[in-house]
Amino acid sequence: MISFVWAEDKNHVIGVDGHLPWKLPNDMKRFKDVTTGHPIVMGRKTFESFPNGPLPNRLNIVISRNADYKVPESVVLLTDKSELSEYVKSDDEVMVIGGSGIFNLFKNDVDRLYLTRIDHEFTGDTKMVPIDYTKFNLIEKKEGVMDDKNVYPYTFETFQKN
Ligand SMILES: NC(=O)c1ccc[n+]([C@@H]2O[C@H](COP(=O)([O-])OP(=O)(O)OC[C@H]3O[C@@H](n4cnc5c(N)ncnc54)[C@H](OP(=O)(O)O)[C@@H]3O)[C@@H](O)[C@H]2O)c1
Repeated sequence: MISFVWAEDKNHVIGVDGHLPWKLPNDMKRFKDVTTGHPIVMGRKTFESFPNGPLPNRLNIVISRNADYKVPESVVLLTDKSELSEYVKSDDEVMVIGGSGIFNLFKNDVDRLYLTRIDHEFTGDTKMVPIDYTKFNLIEKKEGVMDDKNVYPYTFETFQKN
C-alpha cells in the first residue's frame, strides 16, 4: 500500500528554499509516529533537506535521475519507481514523503493520505500536487494542540481511498 505523508499551508505550500516553511514540532512528532517502521520514499531534494542524514528506524529510499548520486550505505537509491518493488514487501505500507516531484510520480498509486493542514499562509516555492479528494474518505481528523512552540493552528487528517 502507498501512503502520502505531508504538511501544507492554506495555499498548498509545502516548501521554501529546500526546507519546510514553518517550525511545528508536533507535526514532526506525528511524522515520526506515522512513518517509523515503514519504508519512506523521497525525492533527492527532500533527502538533502534532512540536517542529520537518513531518518532512523525506517528504510530510506531516495529517487534521483542520477544513477551516480551518492547515498550512505543504509539508503536505497532508485532511478525509476518501477524498482521500488525490489526493496519493499507487498504488505508494507510505503510512506511517500515528497516533495512535489515524487508526490506527482505516485499520485495515481496512493491509497492513504496523512495530511497536516496548517491554517496559515507562508511564503513558498513548492506546492503539493492537486489531490482529488472525491476519491478518498476522511477516516480521522484531530485538531492540533497549540502552545509556545507550535504557534500555528493545524489539523491532522487521514484519508483512505474509496
Ligand atoms: N511540507 C511537507 O510535508 C514536505 C514534504 C517533502 C518535502 N517538502 C519540501 O519540498 C521541497 C522539496 O521538494 P521538490 O519537489 O523541490 O523536490 P523532491 O521531490 O524532493 O526531489 C526532486 C528530485 O527528485 C528526483 N526526481 C523527481 N522525479 C523523478 C523521476 N520521475 N524519476 C527519477 N527521479 C526523479 C530528481 O532528482 P535529481 O535532480 O537528483 O535527478 C528531482 O530533482 C523542500 O522545500 C522540502 O522541504 C515539504
